[in-house]
Amino acid sequence: MKDRYVVIGNPIEHSKSPQIHAAFARQTGQEMEYGRILGEADGFERQVREFLAAGGKGLNVTVPFKEAAWHLAGERSGRAEVAGAVNTLIVLADGRLRGDNTDGVGLVRDLTVNQGLDLKGCRVLLLGAGGASRGVVRPLLEAGPNQLLIANRTAEKALALAAALSGFGAVFGCGLDRLAGRQFDLIINGTAAGLRGEVPGIPEHLLAPGGWSYDMMYGSEPTAFVRWGEAHGAARALDGLGMLVEQAAEAFYLWRGIRPETRGVIEALRGV
Ligand code: ATR
Repeated sequence: MKDRYVVIGNPIEHSKSPQIHAAFARQTGQEMEYGRILGEADGFERQVREFLAAGGKGLNVTVPFKEAAWHLAGERSGRAEVAGAVNTLIVLADGRLRGDNTDGVGLVRDLTVNQGLDLKGCRVLLLGAGGASRGVVRPLLEAGPNQLLIANRTAEKALALAAALSGFGAVFGCGLDRLAGRQFDLIINGTAAGLRGEVPGIPEHLLAPGGWSYDMMYGSEPTAFVRWGEAHGAARALDGLGMLVEQAAEAFYLWRGIRPETRGVIEALRGV
């Protein structure tokens, strides 16, 4: 029987993860299957345990179960520990379940390797202080930006997140209402505003000349925040498709010990 993996989340039908992992498996000659499970609000832990009892080797976990997966993992990587969220579950040889978080490294790899941005010395603004943002702060800081400011509608959450990660670099928190007059080389959107086609309430001139915008979300059409970047002079206005593929590649590596090539997979998904 082939090794079995799944992504679990809710909603799940539009997830591109099965397509991405199937491409990785073909490319690397790995004998594996990758499916999807619609997670139930009160059934997540049971569903994971059933999958493992049936011989499942690993899971990706997506919204809204990343925190539940963190609690479920018997051991966690350092980056998952700090993120407070787990997007990859790995069955260890002794049967224990290890939780990791590959979102942050996926974002940083997309920015630096795929897009060629040198984060060193950059002034970076991260919008939002929920689960999506929490997952990426430590890897972002480890890439050596000049400073990372986390701005959130509810200021206290940004301040608390910055305080929790202060051991990893120059990170500060504030409310969205404190951004007037400031400028950044890179603005990353980690808020959920885009789910309703909205952008967070931010000033007009936040991007420094030559600055980039990055939306952690993606869609078949340009997202609201990609359109914001384009309308506000971003030298590059990127969506999160590259991050999605890179976080998947890192999960694949954790499971299979082989790092797949991502560029062709990103281009295929993008339809180029
Ligand atoms: P996720 O796990 O997807 O990040 P979350 O934990 O609910 O979801 O966090 C959502 C984030 O998007 C929060 O930072 C939220 O701001 P608040 O903490 O003030 O709620 C932010 N957010 C959601 N809708 C927003 C909007 N319309 N404008 C600005 N920020 C928004």
